[in-house]
Amino acid sequence: MLIVANWKMNSLRREGIDRARKLRLLSSEKELSCNIIVCPPAHIIHEVRQALDGSDIGVGAQDCHFDDGGAHTGDISVKMLADLGCTHIIVGHSERRQEHFENDEIVKMKAKKVHSEGLISIICIGETKEEKESGKALDRLHDQLSNSLPETINSINTVVAYEPCWAIGSGLTPNHKEIEDAHTVIRDFLKRTIPKTKPLPYVLYGGSVNGNNAEGLLQIQGVSGALVGGASLDPTDFWKICQYAETAVNLKNS
Ligand code: PGA
Repeated sequence: MLIVANWKMNSLRREGIDRARKLRLLSSEKELSCNIIVCPPAHIIHEVRQALDGSDIGVGAQDCHFDDGGAHTGDISVKMLADLGCTHIIVGHSERRQEHFENDEIVKMKAKKVHSEGLISIICIGETKEEKESGKALDRLHDQLSNSLPETINSINTVVAYEPCWAIGSGLTPNHKEIEDAHTVIRDFLKRTIPKTKPLPYVLYGGSVNGNNAEGLLQIQGVSGALVGGASLDPTDFWKICQYAETAVNLKNS
């Protein structure tokens, strides 16, 4: 299982560092076997990484540019993020797709750059409310997979996150059957793309995951972790989600 915290555009330095320290403390009280990555806003990645030193919790970034460097005002490169200690980079989050008009082609270029620098891309896909209501959700996922995943993907360098746009920050989640169906589409696609001898990448669910619903969501067939936004700002709630990931692994292995 992999649990990823997406802090989005929240927290000044003090608040972010305090939250990271709290997470380090919680992780020292009980060791968990699931992988945990925290993606703070870029201005505090370095300090959050320092605050997490000595724990198994890693850091990632919320976005990157697809170019190596140069005249891209306001952007940040994969190399710069690696220099700060990031191992993972989220690309194609629906907020980037909507607010910054990023299309599948741009997402694919970003993921490819992440891979070329030896980091892990967390590639987000998910249908809009309109696509869901018109019965096109699974087709949309298939399109996004075909067009946003570069040919450089493998079992290690890629994580796919299924995040229905309408579920993000809304308190709404799809029902378990809908999540299972979406994860089947994603896993079938990955099975066709990744050599049979290799394990499949993590496939996360994201969208209004919190300490109250994570137990059920993480037990859904095919779900191998979560991408958590709002609830990741509360270390206690976030840690509860990580603990449920542990329970889900034990149940799925039994
Ligand atoms: P949310 O966000 O948990 O606040 O719905 C998830 C995400 O956008 O990654």
